[in-house]
Order: sequence, then C-alpha cells, then structure tokens
Amino acid sequence: MTLIFLGIESSCDDTAAAVVRGDGEILSSLVAGQTDLHAAFGGVVPEIAARAHAEKLDICVEEALAEAGLTLAKLDGIAVTAGPGLIGGVMAGVMLAKGLAAGSGLPLVGVNHLAGHALTPRLTDGIAYPYLMLLVSGGHCQFLRVDGPDAFSRLGGTIDDAPGEAFDKVAKLLGLPQPGGPSVEEQALSGDAGRFSLPRPLLDRPGCDMSFSGLKTAVLRARDDLSKTQGGLTVQDRADLCAGFQAAVADVLAGKTARALAAHPVPVLAVAGGVAANRAIRLRLESVAAKAGARFTAPPLRLCTDNAAMIAWAGIEAFGQGRRDGMDLAGRPRWPLDQSVAPMLGAGKRGAKA
Ligand code: KG4
Ligand code: ZN
Repeated sequence: MTLIFLGIESSCDDTAAAVVRGDGEILSSLVAGQTDLHAAFGGVVPEIAARAHAEKLDICVEEALAEAGLTLAKLDGIAVTAGPGLIGGVMAGVMLAKGLAAGSGLPLVGVNHLAGHALTPRLTDGIAYPYLMLLVSGGHCQFLRVDGPDAFSRLGGTIDDAPGEAFDKVAKLLGLPQPGGPSVEEQALSGDAGRFSLPRPLLDRPGCDMSFSGLKTAVLRARDDLSKTQGGLTVQDRADLCAGFQAAVADVLAGKTARALAAHPVPVLAVAGGVAANRAIRLRLESVAAKAGARFTAPPLRLCTDNAAMIAWAGIEAFGQGRRDGMDLAGRPRWPLDQSVAPMLGAGKRGAKA
C-alpha cells in the first residue's frame, strides 16, 4: 500500500501544508509567506511569526486537503516540523498536528526541518542513499552526507552567516532591493569580478567549514573607500562589487564541495536552498560534481525553499523505519541532524541555525 501523509511546516516565516504520497506524487503543497508582516523590521520577528502561523495553519491544512481531494480519514499519517526553528511557530504546528492526530486517530511523526530539506532529492529525483547534500539558503549552510532517513553526518558548515544572509546584507549595503540574492546576481552580470580583491574565508583551511561574514565586511570597506575617494558609487562600481562578492562565494562553496566529495566519494551531489537558484554558483557546483564523477541534482526551487511537501515526505520515510511520536512530542528550537557533532551556535535573521 502506498502511504499518504499530511505535512505541516511552521518553523520560520512560511506557513505550509501539503499532502504527499509515498510514490513521490505531491497531491497538494501550499505555502503562505509572511514577508509583508516582517518587512518593516528588517528581519523575521519571532512573536509576529508565531501569531501568523497560529492564525493561518488550520486554513492552510484545510486547503491542502481540499486540493488533494482527500479527508483526514483517507490519510495514513501526519508529519509536522518539530524543530529546529523559531519555537513559537514550531509549537503552533506541533499543537495543531497533535490535535489532528488525537481527533482522527492517525499516527503522528515529528520531523526535523533540516531532514526535510536533506531528503527532498529523494522525493523529486528518487535518488538512492548515500549522497552528499549542500544546503545553502538564508538560514542554512551545511554539508551533509545522507545515508538514510535518520542517518546524517554533518561534514561542515558556516561558522557565522549563511550565504543567502550575506547576499541580502551585501544588497542592503549597496542599496539594492531585497531579497538580495537575485538583485546581486543581476548586477554581477555586468560586473568585473577581478576588480576588487575580496577574501575567500577559510578556503585554505582543511575541513568543510565556511565563513561569509568577513566577506560581507570586505564589501562594506570597499564601498566606504569608494565613497570617501569619489563621493559615491557609480553603476559600474556597484556591478563590480556584486560580481566580486558572488565570485568569492562561488569559490568558497565550490572549493569546499570539492573537498567534501573527495573525502566522501558518493555517486550524487544534491543542492537545496534559495542560493542554489544562483546560476553562477550552480554552474560551479555542477562542474565540481562532474570532475568528481558525481551526478548533480537540484530540486525545483519551490521544493528547495521552505515547504511542507518535504516534511510529509520525511515523515513517510521515518514512518517506514518504524518512527511514531506520541502526545508528548516536543518542539525543539535546536535539533542538530547529526547528534555526534556539537550544534552550531548563533541565530541568523531567518531563525536559528542548527
Ligand atoms: O531557502 P530560502 O528561500 O529561505 C530560507 O533561507 O529559509 O532562501 C532565501 C535566500 C535569501 O537569502 C536570498 O537572497 C537567497 O536565498 N537567494 C539567492 C538567489 N535567490 C535567492 N542568493 C543568491 N542568488 C540567487 N539567485
Ligand atoms: Zn529551511
């Protein structure tokens, strides 16, 4: 029998619900963003996020079921993000999922949000274990070796900002619109990446850890130097800074990916997260994979960014391994996927990193 699960996601600033079948068919996937609610504050405000989730989650679930043409009685289980993330939002999702499970008698599975991202290439491309996953977004940046639905090894990650966060900050300091990634990428097309000498933090160090905060500061300094000497930035200056910054991020991600693949020669490299939409970065990662003899895959963007289909899928995989949660399922602000390494400290503007 092919399992059908409802997935619920509310760990950051997207309220999402989805219905997914075990053969990889997404019957519905709804995502309601909250960008407008947080716009005036320059980042996600946890309390506002939690209230908005509490208001919208049940409607989102109803719509996901309606779009799938199913009622709860036709499902086999409920999967919900139980962390890591902003705890108010996580709690809103977990409470709703518990209520639905108690009322319907369906099994409940608490899912790690990062496992949702990391298992997505299995939902979209049916790839087999093991594979290497590079998660790069506004809130996440890590290399994971994935050996099973509950078997993740963290090979490294950012020690400060996530790359998407750095793109957003660079856009802000150059007066470009948010989200910064697409704005910087567009400017970079007409820029000279070699004009400014920007750092490649940690690239020469062993291991797969990365750092992006110093790079952003270097862009800030270059901007201030130009302002001092010429009274402002020309259109070309801005494009050159964007091109230089993007090339530095691409160099770091490509260099560290090559290192991760050399240490773990698995058949597939998968990338996910908003930054994977960047064409220059994607091309570099594709060529790193090709050189290492690995296949490259990137789920479609709507499944790379936060969504509930990935949570339903991760729930189906965990359920298949015998995982069940009870009414004592707790939301967790931090929940490292790889329990054998210390969790990363620090919280980006888009929530807790794990
Ligand atoms: O995965 P995502 O939608 O949300 C979370 O962070 O959870 O990623 C959003 C991030 C933003 O920081 C955005 O600037 C970045 O991904 N991004 C990009 C591009 N498109 C989105 N960064 C670089 N180049 C892009 N084309
Ligand atoms: Zn995420």
